[in-house]
Amino acid sequence: MAMENSSERSSVQLSRIQYVSRAAPCIQMSDVDAIVSRARAINSYSGVTGQLLFTGAYFFQVIEGPFDHLKNRLSSIRLDVRHHDLRTIEEIDIERRRFERWPMQYVQDFGLQDLVEELWWSQKVDLARAAQLVQYLTHELLVLPRPGRGT
Ligand SMILES: Cc1cc2nc3c(=O)[nH]c(=O)nc-3n(C[C@H](O)[C@H](O)[C@H](O)COP(=O)(O)O)c2cc1C
Repeated sequence: MAMENSSERSSVQLSRIQYVSRAAPCIQMSDVDAIVSRARAINSYSGVTGQLLFTGAYFFQVIEGPFDHLKNRLSSIRLDVRHHDLRTIEEIDIERRRFERWPMQYVQDFGLQDLVEELWWSQKVDLARAAQLVQYLTHELLVLPRPGRGT
């Protein structure tokens, strides 16, 4: 469903935003751990859910929730120096959440670096590629939970 004008949206309208960003060059795993735990804490009381993928040099994130809360979270996320060059892939209104049970599911997969890099570089946003990535991550985590990779 396409997004309406922001000013007409109610705070209860559920929306989803997907973006790709480049991790800060000197980022440490302890920084990523801190991002995830802060995101989970804030999202829990903001009614925001989603998934964060870290590939070593890139982040890919899906955040979903009430439109106003999402916009608020995204403003903070954009200013965060632990990543840069954030590119929005998709911003849509949704009927149902995809990550209902997750204040922020974390997936670390260095093998997905090329795919996420390709998404970041593509001039024209490739929604099919992004959907493929989310489907892959969701499916893999549901079917093949591997300790240490996704929590
Ligand atoms: C890749 C990445 C993903 C993040 N995801 C979230 C998130 O889902 N929710 C959130 O509240 N903060 C998230 N953060 C942390 C925010 O950037 C920010 O540090 C946090 O929201 C606290 O900001 P505030 O004190 O301005 O509210 C993320 C940061 C990065 C670098």
